Order: sequence, then C-alpha cells, then structure tokens
Amino acid sequence: MIDVASTRIDWVAEHCQLLRSISAEFKDTLPFRELTIGTGIHLEAKTVALILTLRDGGARLVSTGNLNTTQPEAVAALRAEGVVVIGEPTKDRELHGRYLGEVIAARPDLILDNGGDLFATYLDAPYDGLRGGTEETTSGRMRLEPLRDRLKLPILVINDSPIKQFAENEHAVGQSTLESYLRFTNRVTNGEQVTVFGYGACGRGVAASFRGACARVTVVDTDPVARLRAHLDGFAASPREEAIGSADVIITVTGARDVLTAADLPLLRDGVIVANAGHFPAEIDVEAIAGSAGVVGTREYPDDLMTLELKDGRRIHVISRGHMLNLAGPRPLGNSIESMDLGFALQARCLEAVANGSVDASSCVVPVPGTIDAAIATSYLDRKYPAAPGA
Ligand SMILES: NC(=O)c1ccc[n+]([C@@H]2O[C@H](COP(=O)([O-])OP(=O)(O)OC[C@H]3O[C@@H](n4cnc5c(N)ncnc54)[C@H](O)[C@@H]3O)[C@@H](O)[C@H]2O)c1
Repeated sequence: MIDVASTRIDWVAEHCQLLRSISAEFKDTLPFRELTIGTGIHLEAKTVALILTLRDGGARLVSTGNLNTTQPEAVAALRAEGVVVIGEPTKDRELHGRYLGEVIAARPDLILDNGGDLFATYLDAPYDGLRGGTEETTSGRMRLEPLRDRLKLPILVINDSPIKQFAENEHAVGQSTLESYLRFTNRVTNGEQVTVFGYGACGRGVAASFRGACARVTVVDTDPVARLRAHLDGFAASPREEAIGSADVIITVTGARDVLTAADLPLLRDGVIVANAGHFPAEIDVEAIAGSAGVVGTREYPDDLMTLELKDGRRIHVISRGHMLNLAGPRPLGNSIESMDLGFALQARCLEAVANGSVDASSCVVPVPGTIDAAIATSYLDRKYPAAPGA
C-alpha cells in the first residue's frame, strides 16, 4: 500500500468533476493561449481548482482575493503552480483596493470578478485590450448594471444562471450558513427564533436550512412579493420591528447596505447573535452599532466572535464583525464542492466564450447563455445517471 499525503486542496480538486474534465479538454484546445486573466474572487480550495483549470487552458493568471476570505493554503498552492497571487488575507478595504489595482496594472485580457471590484477598478484607469469577462455574484451584478454604458464589454453574470441560483445560492448557501453558524457558535438551533433578512435565492436556502435544524424562522424582506412567498412557504413574515425584537439569531443575506443599524439597537433582545451571509460586510453596520453610546464594553473571543455589552445589561453577539460568515472564522469550508464545481464550470465556459468572441459587447452584464447552462447541466447529470451498459 502506498501512503500519499494529500491536502484539502487535493480533496476538493478530486471532487470537482466538471472542472477536471474541462481542464483535460482545455489542455488540448488552449482557449486562453497568450491571454492574461485577472481574477478577484475568494481564494480558497474551490477557486484553486477553477484558477488552475484556466491555467490549463493556456492563460497567465494574476489573482487576488475578496475582503477577509483569502486562505493562506490556497495562496501557497497557487503560487506553487506558478500563478501570480497578489496580497494576503485582509479586512482592510484600502489595502484590498491596492491589491485590486495591482491586478488591473497587469492589464489582463479577461477579468473574472466577484463583487464587481475589478471591473470598477478598471473603470478608474481603463486600458486597451480588455475583452470582457465574468461576474460571479448578486452584489457584483447590482454594482455593474448601472455601469453598462461605461463598460461596453461582454460581461456574463454567472449568478443569473438558473443553475447558480438553485445549486449554490439556494441549496449551498443555506447549508453552509447553517454549518458556519454551528461551527462559530457551537450553540443550539432547536427551538430558537431565527430571523432571516432577505428572501431571495440565498435567503430561501438559509431560512429552509434553519427550519430543517428545528429553529422557528421569521423572514423580513422589503419586497412584499418575497414576503408573501415566505409566508406561503410556511415562515412567519412578521413586521420588521417584531421580527428583530423576537430574534435569538439574526442573519442578513440581502446584498443591500445598512440592513441592521445602530437605530435597531433598542429592539435587540439580550443575547441575540447577529451574522451576515451577504457578499459585502455592509449589511450590518457593526462599526456604528459597536460605537453607540449605549455600548459600554466589548469582549473579544477567539475565532472572530465579539460580544457588545450594553449599559442596560443586554449583550449582543456578533459573528466575524459582519463579514460573510460561511468563508470566515475557524476552518471555513464555504459552499459545497459540487455547487461550486457547477458554478465554476459555468465560469470556465463563459470565459472561453468571451475569449473566442462568441459573445460581443451587446452581452454587457447579462446572464449566462442558455446553451452553456444546458451543456453544464447535461454534463453533471450524465455523471449521475450514466447510460446502462449496452444501451
Ligand atoms: N455567502 C455566500 O456564499 C453567497 C453566495 C452567493 C451570493 N451571496 C450574496 O448573498 C446576497 C444575497 O444574494 P441573493 O442571490 O439571495 O440576492 P437576491 O437579489 O435574490 O435576494 C435579495 C433579497 O433581499 C431583499 N432585500 C433587499 N434589501 C433588503 C432589506 N434592507 N431588508 C430586507 N430584505 C431586503 C430583496 O428584496 C430580495 O428579495 C448577495 O450579497 C450575494 O452576493 C453570498
């Protein structure tokens, strides 16, 4: 028997079946030969698999991460494979901005963005030769849509593929948010009152996962249609103030800013735990809440847990200072490998389409072409339901 010491990155690569087969194909077809791809996406084990797939397609990669989610072992693995990785893990927006600037200074031919950071940085100093690229998430699409007139490039939004919507945003974010809540807090969910802000794809998954963990779940959404849907799905859809005031746990996942602010402090129950699963750490205004006159003390616990002590005796617990909890804290795993393999297979095929010119500038911040969705779905299902021998 041969013992081979393998890493988590090897485990993930082994189970990214779609990327593995695309990588094998790309080694022959080299769709990115002589092209540089700039990436600004969480640097963790699954993105290592994606970035190395693009590298196998002939690309030179210049990569940086998102705020607070860069994992040192992912950076080390990429550097060992010759990928240029800029920056280190940071919560500092200014420093993160400098890393983004360095990626754009390499004048990539294609951009793979997550949150719109790289395309926004490109617009500060545009250059010739950018062919376009992809945007991964809801928050990035919201940021790039109003910039279409200035971008004028093919940019395919992975988030708006139905596959990303149900496989990652709904099922996987729901599961990983629950897993991360348990991982951070080691607290019970059974019988607890959990309030979820946002009933889009991610919020639906988060609400369902906590219900599955025997919590009582209330949903708050500014859109009355989403609120009605939550009600008909069997969740309480109480008015905002009541939903905050009754909560043992509050989770934001909206893509909006200032969803929970210092103005809500009087409503919060003693012992409430607040966390954010949305992309940017702007949904809970942790800085203003912690700086409120009513807060008289702060306790910092290991693993990025913090308790705010209020003059009136209440305590408010904050997970990871409002950064996206499923890629934060101790041993963060993020979303399931298969959900990310599906989304990243869409990424690889969309970047290939932009590189070979099969989409043009009329496809600026638009969903993934239906032909790519169908091909990826077929490829996944063919592995799950192989044809019977002799059929
Ligand atoms: N944690 C992860 O792994 C992960 C993965 C994918 C997406 N995301 C992020 O999660 C966030 C939500 O994504 P989505 O795909 O569910 O978006 P979505 O657009 O489908 O849904 C957002 C919902 O939030 C509601 N909303 C907006 N402002 C609100 C407010 N102030 N209070 C209550 N509800 C409000 C909207 O009406 C909408 O129903 C985004 O930031 C996205 O980038 C995170």
